[in-house]
Amino acid sequence: MILGIETSCDETAAAIVMRDQFGRGTIRSNVVRSQFDEHAAFGGVVPELAARAHVTWLDHIITQACREAGIGLADVDAIAATAGPGLIGGVLVGLTTAKALAAALGKPLIAVNHLEAHALTARLTDGVQFPYLMLLVSGGHSQFVLVRGVGDYERWGSTIDDALGEAFDKVAKMLSLGNPGGPAVEQIAKSGDPKRFKFPRPLLREARLDFSFSGLKTAVRLQAEALAPLSDQDVADIAASFQQAVADVVAVRSRQALERFNAEFPGQQMQLVVAGGVAANRTIAAALKAVCAAAGAILVVPPIALCTDNGAMVAWAGAERFALGAHDGLDFTARPRWPLDLDDMRIAPDAA
Ligand code: KG4
Ligand code: ZN
Repeated sequence: MILGIETSCDETAAAIVMRDQFGRGTIRSNVVRSQFDEHAAFGGVVPELAARAHVTWLDHIITQACREAGIGLADVDAIAATAGPGLIGGVLVGLTTAKALAAALGKPLIAVNHLEAHALTARLTDGVQFPYLMLLVSGGHSQFVLVRGVGDYERWGSTIDDALGEAFDKVAKMLSLGNPGGPAVEQIAKSGDPKRFKFPRPLLREARLDFSFSGLKTAVRLQAEALAPLSDQDVADIAASFQQAVADVVAVRSRQALERFNAEFPGQQMQLVVAGGVAANRTIAAALKAVCAAAGAILVVPPIALCTDNGAMVAWAGAERFALGAHDGLDFTARPRWPLDLDDMRIAPDAA
């Protein structure tokens, strides 16, 4: 039974997750408080405000998570918290709280990489077995990661500029669609013509599995400026054309990533796991579905509440590491940057 704490961005979250001896997980509680209201007036997440809101809310959220799970803090076997990557002020709040609880209760601390938490969620929700390919598309990250095992990751590609969710948010801002941008762009795009504008599909001619969205974003801005003042139909058409360009890029990259997976693991059932808030986008999801169907790959999209930031994914990653004997010292420092494939993510051989 693991308590998981997530404070790396603008969600204050805590959850209780159980992992049984067969490696099956059960979410006993999963409490998330979004800071949407705190940041709404600023058009984006303000790190200092985020950290303060985490301080205000985290202990209440943890208490609620325990209450909803029907347990007391003394019943947990370990305390897991996101230790990075993320906004450092927020990460410090969650990690320091976890350390204090671990010290006071005499329980092990597990410092969790936020990306690892996203990567392992599909094992909690769908019991996915290693190895598999993960596509993480959120407001902060866009990457392909080969997941070989707990603590054993290989990044195959990432964005060289904006994250995909960030691109959605910026386009929404250009079109005055409000925040968060992704759902707003998707909504308005429903009444738009995805073929009206031929926006660039950046990097598609290159073989590497990286993304780039800044050129596409600039093309959208130039188009919006050229047409200004925009009619409602212009806005819808730009949104739809942008979304189509993004979906095409994600589809082509995913097909290439699956080809690489197939080459490295011949005969192995291909599995593509999607994580991050952008997984909610229906056009992108449909494109991924088509790619996986054509390639003979299984597509796994956890429920959207577990694709976006939450405490259950952190608790689960903690549970998976804990089951392998891993835990961390109270001197573990918060990491604003923490690539998934750093060597120190690996479980020590004697623990595995
Ligand atoms: O994973 P997430 O909740 O938070 C982190 O970034 O960690 O992802 C949020 C991002 C935002 O950029 C948001 O605009 C985007 O996911 N998003 C979407 C949709 N829903 C959320 N993007 C496109 N279409 C959506 N339906
Ligand atoms: Zn995240």
